[in-house]
Formats: sequence, structure tokens, C-alpha cells
Amino acid sequence: MTSHSPVVITDRALLCDRGFIDGVWLAASKTFAVHNPASGVELAQVADFGPTETTAAVAAAAHAQPAWAARTAKDRSAILRRWFELIVAAQDDLAAIMTAEQGKPLAEARGEVLFGAAFIEWFGEEAKRTYGEVIPSPVRGRQLLALRQPVGVVAAITPWNFPNAMITRKAAPALAAGCTFIVKPAPETPLSALALAVLAERAGVPLGVFNVIPTTRASEVGSVLTEHPLVRKFSFTGSTAVGKLLMAQCASTVKRVSLELGGNAPFLVFDDADLDAAVVGALASKFRNAGQTCVCANRFLVQSSVVDSFTRKLAVAVAALTVGDGMTPGVVQGPLISERAVQKVERLVADATAQGARVVCGGARHALGGTFYAPTVLAGVTPAMTIAREEIFGPVVTIIPFADDADAIAMANDTPFGLAAYAYTRDLARAWRVAEALEYGMVGINEGIISTELAPFGGIKESGIGREGARQGIDEYLEIKYVAMGGLGG
Ligand code: SIN
Repeated sequence: MTSHSPVVITDRALLCDRGFIDGVWLAASKTFAVHNPASGVELAQVADFGPTETTAAVAAAAHAQPAWAARTAKDRSAILRRWFELIVAAQDDLAAIMTAEQGKPLAEARGEVLFGAAFIEWFGEEAKRTYGEVIPSPVRGRQLLALRQPVGVVAAITPWNFPNAMITRKAAPALAAGCTFIVKPAPETPLSALALAVLAERAGVPLGVFNVIPTTRASEVGSVLTEHPLVRKFSFTGSTAVGKLLMAQCASTVKRVSLELGGNAPFLVFDDADLDAAVVGALASKFRNAGQTCVCANRFLVQSSVVDSFTRKLAVAVAALTVGDGMTPGVVQGPLISERAVQKVERLVADATAQGARVVCGGARHALGGTFYAPTVLAGVTPAMTIAREEIFGPVVTIIPFADDADAIAMANDTPFGLAAYAYTRDLARAWRVAEALEYGMVGINEGIISTELAPFGGIKESGIGREGARQGIDEYLEIKYVAMGGLGG
């Protein structure tokens, strides 16, 4: 345990530096450092697991799975409910751990903890509703049934941008369905994952049902998780490039896969939009987590007749955003996760300005130094610029004018990605037309934040496969077994 860790929380037992396999907290021969991105201060030295520990976790999960699946749905639901309640009760500590290792402002971290807990609440309830079907039989004396059964052992690899909710979004439906679960959290943010395991243990999640593999050895551990024959389902949130590699690895054992990958979200502002509402939505969509989410608006496509007034209003709001350490009250934008992340943003902004984009505000590192980047608005961006084609993952608004609806839709869809899109208009018919025409898994109309445990989250095209959350989310962890039962007389 990291008794010397500078993270200030009430329940120190939530700070763990070991991995969690089969209900046992295990050290490793090597450790890795976790740093606070706002200050660079070391928070912990965490066990650095490898393929041996990962294989042991798969064996433990496979051993635990039949007994977990054999419990009644009501039992599993009650355990998930306890886990949910413990997370809600520990929200302040979990938020402080998250802000320390990830950098997002404390209020936003608390929001993520509650968002993450909501998946456990929702899927705990759904556990009781994994109904099968009785199919009207074509023959007397025979019954045709479709049973829904747990897939088996599930492995997941989760990202640093949502250290809590991207785990619970996968673990909750898996456990509710009767699967067991192994997660490899991002090496930048293992402490939130380990704190979730402490609370799972307290909630009575049985040994081997929820396992955490902290590691820096992504490719070796990833190989075990994607290629081990006992893992029946693999779920990943992260970049499209890595998702493609992992999907290829899963092919060797024909695993079920869910992939939540990169995006290039368009944010359309039409000439009839409420521009003030569009500015509020733009801030929420773009600057959440300092622009480091897969659903952050990446391209602001604005109708030419309103582009100047929208840019002016947005720039005033962006320039007023308070940047700083996420623990400081009033801060709404923390640091980026790493020096590499800042360098990527710098490269994209430099390339855009070299090709004629104009810096309206920001455009450089923040005066605070380190990995802080100034909230930025770039005008005069064109669809051909790299900044409009790659996921920025930083606090930069790019404004691209369009002429009419057809132009806007064509530009919005001109990308291999298809995760989230947003449109602002007061015209109901236009809103419907645009929502239908956008080639995206999710569309926000006059809304900048669309994520909720109640709705199916996921992408199309190269943004992914499968849905997380909602009643569809549990299907990803269930197989359908057809049973034809004959000899019933009649
Ligand atoms: C993500 O960036 O991967 C998820 C964001 C969300 O759930 O809103």
C-alpha cells in the first residue's frame, strides 16, 4: 500500500499498489511509477504484471465463471447494487484519486465516478431481465427455445481518459450477465481501477470474478488477453490503430469483440441555430476532459452566414475558461495527460496555421507550463488540413465554414470515423434530415453531451463495433443458444 502517497483521501485503503487476481492482492518483481500530470509528482509505484500473472488471472476467471453464472440473476444483481452503493459513498475519495492521476478537474472526476457507478446500477437491474424466447413451433410435440447465456471469461483493455467509467461500462454488463472479468487499465491511471477492485471485494464480488492487471507491458499482456482460448470475449476502448491490431489478434480464437475506437466528431451549426445555445454545447462537447474524449467535437462546421458571429461568441467563452490543477476550485480545464499529448496538439496547430488557419485565441502551451495547453480557437480551417482529419485529443476548436445542408453533410461524413456527431438547428425538419444523414453511431441535436448509461453508446465505420450501456449493452456479453426440444407428445 502507498502509505506515503501524496493523494489526500479519507479511506486510505482505497489506494492500492498491487494487482488483484482471484481475490488476492499481489505484488510483482517490478513496479512502475504513476505521476500526477498537473505537477509531475510521483503518486505511487504500482506492481508491473506480465504474461505470467495475466495467464493466472485468466485461469482464475475461468475457474470462477461457472459458479458465478449459476447464481441467480437476483443474487448477482444484489452484489452489483452493493458495489454501486459503495462507489457512490466513496465518490469524494475516488474523485480525488482520479484527479491526481488523470488531471481532470475534481468536479468532473466526481461526475465520472457517478457516471461509472450508474452503469453498475443499471446493469445490476438488467441482470434480472435477460429474457430468452419461446418460438412458436412448426411441429406438435416439439418446443423451440432461444436461451441467453453468459459468453464466459471477458477481458478488457481500458484507456486513461476515463479511468473509472470505461471499466464499469464493460464490467457491469459482463458481471450482470454471469461472465467473469479481467481488466488491464491504462498505465497512466491504474489507481482508479484498483480502488474499484477494493470496493468490489467489499461488495462481495466473489474471488476471481473481477481481476485487475496493472502493467506497462501492453503488448505482452494484450497478447494473452486477445489470444488465450479461455477468454471468450474481448472489449477495448482506445485508438483505432490499436483496436485494429487487437481485433486481428482476437481472430485466432474467433473471440467476440467490442471496440470503442477513435472519432472525428463534426459539430454542425446551421444559420437558424440558437448561437448562444450552440456555444454552450460547443464548450461542453469540446472542453470536457481538456478535449481528451473520443466524442469531443473535432471539427466545427459552421454555415457561412453565421460563422463570424459564432466564432466571436465562442472565442469570448473559450478565453474565459480557467486552466489549472484539477484540485483547485474553479478550474475547468486541467493538464493534458502527457508531454507526448501536448506535442501532438502543437504539431496539428502548427501544421494548420502554416496552411492558413488563424489563431483567434490560445494557440500555444499555457503560461502554467508543463502539459497545460491554452484553450484554443482556430478559424479558417479547411477539411484537407491534418487537424480536420486526425483526432486532436486536446482543447482546440477548429472552425470550417460551409455553404448549405448538402455541403455540411458531405463534409461531416468525409472521414473513416463514425462515432459521435452534433448539430445545432431550430428547424425540426432539418434536424431530422441531418440526424438521418449523418453516418455516425450517435447524434446530438442541440445537445453537446450525449453519454448516459441509459442509451447505446458506440460507433460505426472505423470507430468501432458493439454498443455500451442501455439494454443493448448486455447483449454484448450474452450468447444465444437455440434449443429444439422434441418428444414432448401431443
Ligand atoms: C470516450 O471518450 O471513450 C467516452 C466518452 C463518453 O462516454 O462520453
